[in-house]
Amino acid sequence: MKESAIYHKSKKLGVLLPGMGAVATTLIAGVYAIKKGLGVPVGSFTQLGFDAHGTPVRDRLDLVSIDDLVFGGWDIHGENVYETAKRSRVLESDLLRQLEAELSSIKPMPAVFDQRYVKRLEAKEQKQGASWWDLAQQIKDDIAQFKIHHGLERCVMVWCGSTEVFIEEGSSHTSVRRLEEAMKMNDPSITPSMVYAYAALTSGIPYANGSPNLSVDIPAMSELARECGIPIAGKDFKTGQTMIKTVLAPAFRARTLGLSGWFSTNILGNRDGEVLDDPESFKTKEMSKLSVLETILDAEKSPELYGDISHSVRINYYPPRGDNKEGWDSIDIFGWLGYPMQIKVDFLCRDSILAAPIVLDLILLLDIAARKGERGTLEWMSFFFKAPMTQGTPAVHDLFAQESMLREAVDRLAR
Ligand SMILES: NC(=O)c1ccc[n+]([C@@H]2O[C@H](COP(=O)([O-])OP(=O)(O)OC[C@H]3O[C@@H](n4cnc5c(N)ncnc54)[C@H](O)[C@@H]3O)[C@@H](O)[C@H]2O)c1
Repeated sequence: MKESAIYHKSKKLGVLLPGMGAVATTLIAGVYAIKKGLGVPVGSFTQLGFDAHGTPVRDRLDLVSIDDLVFGGWDIHGENVYETAKRSRVLESDLLRQLEAELSSIKPMPAVFDQRYVKRLEAKEQKQGASWWDLAQQIKDDIAQFKIHHGLERCVMVWCGSTEVFIEEGSSHTSVRRLEEAMKMNDPSITPSMVYAYAALTSGIPYANGSPNLSVDIPAMSELARECGIPIAGKDFKTGQTMIKTVLAPAFRARTLGLSGWFSTNILGNRDGEVLDDPESFKTKEMSKLSVLETILDAEKSPELYGDISHSVRINYYPPRGDNKEGWDSIDIFGWLGYPMQIKVDFLCRDSILAAPIVLDLILLLDIAARKGERGTLEWMSFFFKAPMTQGTPAVHDLFAQESMLREAVDRLAR
């Protein structure tokens, strides 16, 4: 595949992150730590994974080196990356102290924010504008300035902001024309994450959505991405509990074991947990987390095994745990002649430690996909997401089927 005319592989790549909280700052600190030889990029497919023939992905693909990433972004809190990383208590203070100079020099730009969409947060630094349209132009100006300041030809954007309240897809989301009209009319069906996405796409910047809110998962944004010749991907990083779920469910299907119930609960005490404590933001997350079993365990094909599953997901905000989430799964399966059995999973994970390498992979893969001329929704990125975006076909949730799609894409991008 030839390099696209728009995208040349200049050395540096700008990384724009709307939402510079725990995940974003763990990524940035991690990249600087790895550059200094203070850590290993564990969990990153592009850095430590292999293609279908056993060749390291980073030898196979012409990826930007992590030495050449330049970070920027937006947030409402007014802190620099060092301050946020310290407050988030994901990485040890000893490590952060060694990175203080680099991390303190990155300060988020004032955000496009509206408390109607994230009820538990209050903004210290936020842009003022007459309409969503006006705010999108301000983000576009920020992007242009960021590129000039750092001498960048290319950027990618990954939404690492809070989960917005649940919004149904509506008429303003059906075409680019309607989306733009709604932005000019300040319509409430437009959310801040859509404003960033619109600004990115119309600035020629690939965009991925790490949270479960709609953002680019609407027809208008797919149309815009295709028109602008830009790849998009989403949504909701697949990190802890759902990653395990999409490994276990295919095993049950393969062994034709039945499933009567799956109760998933989580406790977490970081800011994400606080935001998800609001029922409207939780609903967005719940829909994303619930979607995975239906397609893996096809009830229509196997009603006697999967025709009557009770599936619940809960998230409880519990401050003492901080970013160290505990995810319990109580799974009720049945075997020969319907005899019941139980499986319990207790995953004591670290949310941002699992998410940061996914963000790194999305950055590097979105960039190479854009350079190779891929545009619109990248279904092969499903591997990284809980609720994969597709171009009309049913989403693939099985982690191993997703891995095959990813490896096929590596073959294609390597040509
Ligand atoms: N960590 C994981 O395992 C994981 C997995 C899947 C999805 N996610 C999603 O990733 C996102 C980030 O998670 P986190 O743990 O870093 O959360 P966080 O609360 O630490 O960070 C989110 C940041 O977004 C900012 N923000 C909110 N609205 C904004 C806006 N309109 N513009 C700019 N900034 C805005 C907040 O101020 C905050 O600093 C969340 O939506 C979360 O649900 C995380």
